[in-house]
Amino acid sequence: MSAADVTDATPAADPAGGVVIVVAMAAEAAGIRAQLGLDGRGAVLHPAFPARWWSTAALDDPITVVTNGVDPDFGVDSIGTQAATTTTLHAIERFTPRVVLSAGTCGGFAARGGAIGSTYLATEVRRHDRRIEVDGMREMMRADEGVLEAAGIASELGIGVGPVTTSDSLDAPPLDLARMTEVGAVAKDMEAAAVAWVCRRHGVPFQACKVVTDLVDDPEQTQVQFLRNLAAASDRLAEIVPSVATALLRHTST
Ligand code: ADE
Repeated sequence: MSAADVTDATPAADPAGGVVIVVAMAAEAAGIRAQLGLDGRGAVLHPAFPARWWSTAALDDPITVVTNGVDPDFGVDSIGTQAATTTTLHAIERFTPRVVLSAGTCGGFAARGGAIGSTYLATEVRRHDRRIEVDGMREMMRADEGVLEAAGIASELGIGVGPVTTSDSLDAPPLDLARMTEVGAVAKDMEAAAVAWVCRRHGVPFQACKVVTDLVDDPEQTQVQFLRNLAAASDRLAEIVPSVATALLRHTST
């Protein structure tokens, strides 16, 4: 049996409470896990899904990292809102966290002061791609899913704040872009609103911490910027996310 097999074993006890950090990509989570001393390939979150988890379960207030895992059919990270929804649902039902943080990379906006490496907490989280002109459905599809107010944490840690908007696409076609402009988005991602939606249903406070890998309003192709800056943005996530998680735990302690 290799060392990897040993660290892959499901821990004896599930963590209870604390903070769950939901991350889409293995590369985004690697540095965060290293900072928290969480090694190995992680434990299976649910038998039907590739999501993985690691936890500082020995602490009174555990910090648990979950990733969406590698899609078994395509061999790449399970990014996007479907995986974010199931991972968050399974993690909340299994670990009953006090607070959930969606952490990862995002597109930013030079027009609103963004640059590669800019780091944000959310003031609101919405979808920018959902359009249905039917009363009630229009409002549901465009709604703010709600965030834990975190301006104090952001200023304490020197992080920006602003609206985060989500879709399942890396590109930004004109109708989506118009919606991002309308709400003044500072971060465009592929998970936050889905994670927040599950949190809202479960009554669990939610925040998002996003680091910019690419500028949506830059003429260079998004995927080129994203791939070039992913490693540096992941280093920035490793630097800041453990502090955000600890601050959220402090903020939500009774
Ligand atoms: N993650 C990193 N960059 C992104 C972008 N431009 N859109 C959505 N998710 C992202």
